[in-house]
Amino acid sequence: MSVVQWQVTVPSVLFGPGSIMQTASLLSSQNITRPLLVTDPGVLSQSFAQALIAQLKDHAFNVTVFSDIKGNPTKQNVESGLAYFKEKSCDGIVALGGGSAIDVAKAISLVAFNQNDLWLYCYFENPQHLPLVEGDNFFVPFMVIPTTAGTGSELSGSSCVINDETSQRKRVAYHPEHFPFAVIDDPQLLMGLPINLSAWTGMDALTHAIEALCAPDYHPLCDGIALESIRLCHEYLALSVGEPHNIEAKTQMMAASSIAAVAFTSKGLGAVHSIAHALGALLDIHHGLANAVVLPYVLRFNLTAIAPKLTRLACLLDLSNRTAEGFLEWINELRDQLAIPKTLHAIDVTHEQLADIALLAVKDTEHHTNPITMDKAKFMSILTAAYQGVE
Ligand SMILES: NC(=O)c1ccc[n+]([C@@H]2O[C@H](COP(=O)([O-])OP(=O)(O)OC[C@H]3O[C@@H](n4cnc5c(N)ncnc54)[C@H](O)[C@@H]3O)[C@@H](O)[C@H]2O)c1
Ligand SMILES: [Fe+2]
Repeated sequence: MSVVQWQVTVPSVLFGPGSIMQTASLLSSQNITRPLLVTDPGVLSQSFAQALIAQLKDHAFNVTVFSDIKGNPTKQNVESGLAYFKEKSCDGIVALGGGSAIDVAKAISLVAFNQNDLWLYCYFENPQHLPLVEGDNFFVPFMVIPTTAGTGSELSGSSCVINDETSQRKRVAYHPEHFPFAVIDDPQLLMGLPINLSAWTGMDALTHAIEALCAPDYHPLCDGIALESIRLCHEYLALSVGEPHNIEAKTQMMAASSIAAVAFTSKGLGAVHSIAHALGALLDIHHGLANAVVLPYVLRFNLTAIAPKLTRLACLLDLSNRTAEGFLEWINELRDQLAIPKTLHAIDVTHEQLADIALLAVKDTEHHTNPITMDKAKFMSILTAAYQGVE
């Protein structure tokens, strides 16, 4: 085999119910006094968000709240937040929310101090032309408090997925030297998440772990992490949706989501995510829902390359059918349990839109680590199957 490099960088994570109470002391440890709290309207209306603002004010922080963010956030959302950051002379950022708020917070942190355009950081499109980090204050210090489980954006380093309205596609900005100084994983924040969002975001976490495991690079370190994430999803995803007040299930799903991001950040994702990005950019479909609908069709398409891995998963999960087919059966059963629609047609995608989705999916970079090399025709065949419900 050829020489490979494993580099996994994980920031400090405070994990457990009540850990959000440590936010003020973490900000103080970085000498931040004027934080920008980046969140979204749905999260801002939750009691934990109001309690966090009160906590920061009680500790004499001059906090500015920015919440003008939509799902599948846009560059315009980033620019509005940037204007707030500058107007209030903020000196740090707290991201509180799901992937949408976290990604906007990361994007503001990437550009606010150095004035570069966000798209200069599209590392996966053009790794040669990444801006050089100059000085200690090149990026704004930021910390992350996720409220979904989820995207794992708290542990995907710098990665932020932002909709480029000009080219109508989601693009991933990233700098390998840009990290949160701290992450707070407080599963209590998940207790008020609506049932459909618990299901969709949980399927996003599971898809991250499966795509990372199936990505071809030799990386036993991240494969081990992905396996544990899949095991946790197998045990707790349906439970966390079916019993919204089960704190043990929420806690384990928060862990599953965060660690899956460590795996995919090093190993990469696959064709499911390229299609989900296209569906998010073009039709504003929730990211987790898009993944959940498309996942079995992509696994079936990739089967010749991943059957041994799926068989191993079926054995490790102790499924009654310990074969790759058994694993696919489990995915479909789980989708039924979570009331995930079975086809693209069922989430209002039209047949005429499939070609545009395929074109956007090819332009996306996540499929570069798909176990089978992709092109537009292959995306069309997956999309047609997913539209018709023919696996
Ligand atoms: N950067 C990454 O590594 C990464 C990885 C995967 C996905 N993403 C991106 O993340 C975004 C999706 O994020 P998401 O799935 O977390 O959804 P989201 O952030 O868009 O939130 C969905 C909805 O849930 C609400 N919500 C969030 N937390 C809540 C809570 N605790 N209680 C009540 N309501 C709550 C929000 O107000 C919003 O209405 C997409 O744009 C996707 O592309 C990023
Ligand atoms: Fe995702």
